[in-house]
Amino acid sequence: MEKFLVQGSGPLNGEIRIGGAKNSALKLMAASLLAEGSTSLNNVPEITDVAIMMELLEAMGVRVQRVGQRIEIDVPDEIEPVAPYSLVERMRASIVVLGPLLSRIGRAKVALPGGDDFGSRPIDMHLQGLEQLGAEFSYEHGDINGRADQLVGAEVFLEFPSVGATENLLMAAVLADGTTVIENAAREPEISDLANFLSKMGAVIEGIGTSRLTIEGVPALHPVSYEVIPDRIEAATYLAALGVCGGELRLIGARSDHMEMLLRKLEEMGMEWSEDEDGLTARVLERLQSVDVSTLPYPGLATDYKPFLVAALCVSQGAGMVTENIFAGRFRYIDELVRMGAEIRAEGRHAVVRGVKRLSGAPVRAHDIRAGAALVVAALAADGETVISDAHHVDRGYEDLAGKLSSVGAQVTRI
Ligand code: EPU
Repeated sequence: MEKFLVQGSGPLNGEIRIGGAKNSALKLMAASLLAEGSTSLNNVPEITDVAIMMELLEAMGVRVQRVGQRIEIDVPDEIEPVAPYSLVERMRASIVVLGPLLSRIGRAKVALPGGDDFGSRPIDMHLQGLEQLGAEFSYEHGDINGRADQLVGAEVFLEFPSVGATENLLMAAVLADGTTVIENAAREPEISDLANFLSKMGAVIEGIGTSRLTIEGVPALHPVSYEVIPDRIEAATYLAALGVCGGELRLIGARSDHMEMLLRKLEEMGMEWSEDEDGLTARVLERLQSVDVSTLPYPGLATDYKPFLVAALCVSQGAGMVTENIFAGRFRYIDELVRMGAEIRAEGRHAVVRGVKRLSGAPVRAHDIRAGAALVVAALAADGETVISDAHHVDRGYEDLAGKLSSVGAQVTRI
């Protein structure tokens, strides 16, 4: 069982290179199924979720090879349109193969993902949207069996701007007959990255970056070479670490236009930042001030940033109210922070965090990727040693979190 060993650390100084966005890379890999031939993706982080998506593509008969930060995906004419439970169970994002399989092959058998540590996570909007495009679904032995002789464009109004549903619909619509309009589409930078990738493959998409996507179906797409956008959530993790330790960090590759709301919040807390063509430089000279935090779909404050902001609030001056509007169950790590001396009262979707000067190192457990990374951040502001077990959760989304933090002066090791 792997663990992080973290000691309270002084100011951080230096530079960290931000890797490719997990939540974009996974979807681009799924989208590569839409075209026969060799797709090349650059800036793909070496993390567990990408390895699982590689396994999933291989299980369908696709050849996938990693060369450094690049992966080569060779999609044959015939693929086996099946996503088995053994892989979907390990990564619920596997569900995004549903759209591309239905539009290119007309068949898909994908295991139902089930719940996870955030609570119940339905996929009803994915399925209803695909049904509006003409897909039919039946359920058997825990699998969804989808069929569609030829998808046909339609107007789909999403009840909520779901990231996954928007992506599945976008990937289904690009090869459908006629025009599809997705209203109330999610606008996250990773959705725009997927839309740009599809456009490069020959898809016709209007409204990229807006909540109304119009897709003109085309008969076929062609494989391309493409570079994944930087991971804004990884960048946010290092900004939070800087927030609790102080110092100056240069985040190579980070893009402020993908994280405007977060940067505004951090500025309100007392962080200074500037940007040049290589990335962001951020500075923290004194203890941060507490603020209120409320998560919303993009361009609002991402739910994925929240655990880091809570970790920073634990040692900020004053009190902050945190509201979770996306995932009802995303507060489990709070009990772990309380073990470290944090003053937090949580109820339902809300938590009030009263800042203390220092936390106190303790043995704690990572329940998911972001919660694990947030515990590492909190541990940097704790006296003594913190041991974070179940470190493998963090590997799902971070390439060498301990190494990158150590390189700027934090005391973090893997045992
Ligand atoms: N929802 C439904 N029905 C649906 C789809 C979603 O009720 O059919 C609900 C969800 O239960 C949730 C809300 O809508 O309450 C938002 O879910 P969304 O579909 O937007 O999220 P997702 O596609 O499942 C992605 C990211 C998450 C990130 C969320 C929100 C990936 C692989 N995952 O999930 O990232 O938190 O969007 O931005 O892209 C992570 O990276 O650790 C992570 C969890």
